[in-house]
Amino acid sequence: MDVMSELAARRAAARLGGGAARIAAQHARGKLTARERLDLLLDEGSLEEFDMFVTHRAGDFGMNANRPAGDGVVTGRGTINGRQVYVFAQDFTVFGGSLSETHAQKICKVMDMAMRVGAPLVGLNDSGGARIQEGVASLAGYAEVFQRNVLASGVIPQISVIMGPCAGGAVYSPAMTDFIYMVRDTSYMFVTGPDVVRTVTNERVSAEELGGAATHTGRSSVADAAFDNDVETLAEVRRLFDFLPLSNRDPVPQRPFFDDPARGEDSLDTLIPDSPSQPYDMKELIVKLADEGDFCELQRDFAANIVTGFIRLEGSSVGVVANQPLVLAGCLDIDASRKAARFVRFCDAFSIPILTLVDVPGFLPGTAQEYGGIIKHGAKLLFAYGEATVPKVTLITRKAYGGAYDVMASKHLRGDVNYAWPTAEIAVMGAKGAVEILYRSELDDPAKIAARTADYEERFANPFVAAERGFIDDVIQPHSTRRRICRAFASLRGKRLENPWKKHDNIPL
Ligand code: HXC
Repeated sequence: MDVMSELAARRAAARLGGGAARIAAQHARGKLTARERLDLLLDEGSLEEFDMFVTHRAGDFGMNANRPAGDGVVTGRGTINGRQVYVFAQDFTVFGGSLSETHAQKICKVMDMAMRVGAPLVGLNDSGGARIQEGVASLAGYAEVFQRNVLASGVIPQISVIMGPCAGGAVYSPAMTDFIYMVRDTSYMFVTGPDVVRTVTNERVSAEELGGAATHTGRSSVADAAFDNDVETLAEVRRLFDFLPLSNRDPVPQRPFFDDPARGEDSLDTLIPDSPSQPYDMKELIVKLADEGDFCELQRDFAANIVTGFIRLEGSSVGVVANQPLVLAGCLDIDASRKAARFVRFCDAFSIPILTLVDVPGFLPGTAQEYGGIIKHGAKLLFAYGEATVPKVTLITRKAYGGAYDVMASKHLRGDVNYAWPTAEIAVMGAKGAVEILYRSELDDPAKIAARTADYEERFANPFVAAERGFIDDVIQPHSTRRRICRAFASLRGKRLENPWKKHDNIPL
């Protein structure tokens, strides 16, 4: 065979992975192969594959006789809408995508390259875990990947897509990346599987219940989003990628936009209901502010009392954190604090400006919250906002009560531009609660209490007490919000702010 045809033959063999039968089995499960997935993730024809001819070096358990080229993972670089990305995709058709020493080395190589050039890493996970035949060499391989995940954190965006099994210690690589997307019904993640769970705790639970997409997007918050199939999931990864800078050395991506930054929205003038206890949908405001109404929401199904995600303003990515009055009246609880804190820290690490939309009646009371450590978890969000040096623009639409007012990117936590709508109420607490404490002796006289309540509302249920002190820079008309917020972020493009030198902080984990 001449060298050219040997190359072609070797490439063809590598592309076939575990063979036609296993590919058919993969398809029969509704799953695509590693290469088909990369074709969908990356711009057409942009994949430059590395290490296609790498084989494992194990000899035990008959492994000598079976050395498929590529060793169960496709790695390389490509582009997503023209921007560079490093990728790996585990190939379940080769030893169940299990991770051998060489499989790990291939992943480490793309991680090292991504770090060196400053480009994000996207990993497509579909694996039976550690290559059982390789024992500790495989465990060592995982740890090499873990170490790189840690060092890459905050340097390049890391996105994990779970597209099949991801079990045992293998879950900890995705867990240390910035975002995890899952595919419904075909992917799962757990530290110990249903059989071990049954043996140890006597619980009977299916793989889907234990670690499927619904569990991780709705209960555990391990995953940021889930979609119906491989195709949709990979399209959504491309969408998310477009919001992210390539590295912490790069500015946020700037895209052409076709939406007037001064666009008025008269409907916002009536967004806030007359009754302070009536909810409204904060997402309506987010979508109306965003360029072309495009909002990429993360963690939608977890702690829905706070909303997190990306929009663009004048073509430039902005992270949004917003209380959601539709759920638990928008209060802060353990889950909401953790969710928003992690998001704020991601934005700050990658210089993505943060827009905070505030309608918060306070922290959720109760033993469940106190025993669960709301003090420590709430402090995460406070800490995250307090350390963030990116441009921070805050708008209070309605309630901003108590400690939650301070936490939600207030002026005192170095908020750069703090706006309020005329409907804002900034106070230590709502009128009813305040009057019950201040005038306890008058509680059996409804007329007196009503007068006290009216007086309190008159004094505090407005944005002007805060505006008089300069804690609010301006009280703005709801319909002009997009224009004002776009201008605020535009004015902050040259912001420079540094925290004192330290090895690292000690955020209340
Ligand atoms: C080697 C493996 C493998 C593994 C699967 N295969 N897992 N080979 N090491 N870990 C191979 C199978 O032998 C089979 O080969 C092919 O992949 C497909 O596997 P099936 O079992 O036929 O597929 P399916 O029925 O879909 O089941 C998938 C599975 C199951 C649930 C992932 O294979 C499984 O339970 N595997 C073992 C999982 C596990 O215990 N891993 C170790 C976890 S501990 P053929 O040749 O028949 O196609 C771990 C520690 C990480 O990962 C530590 C990090 C610190």
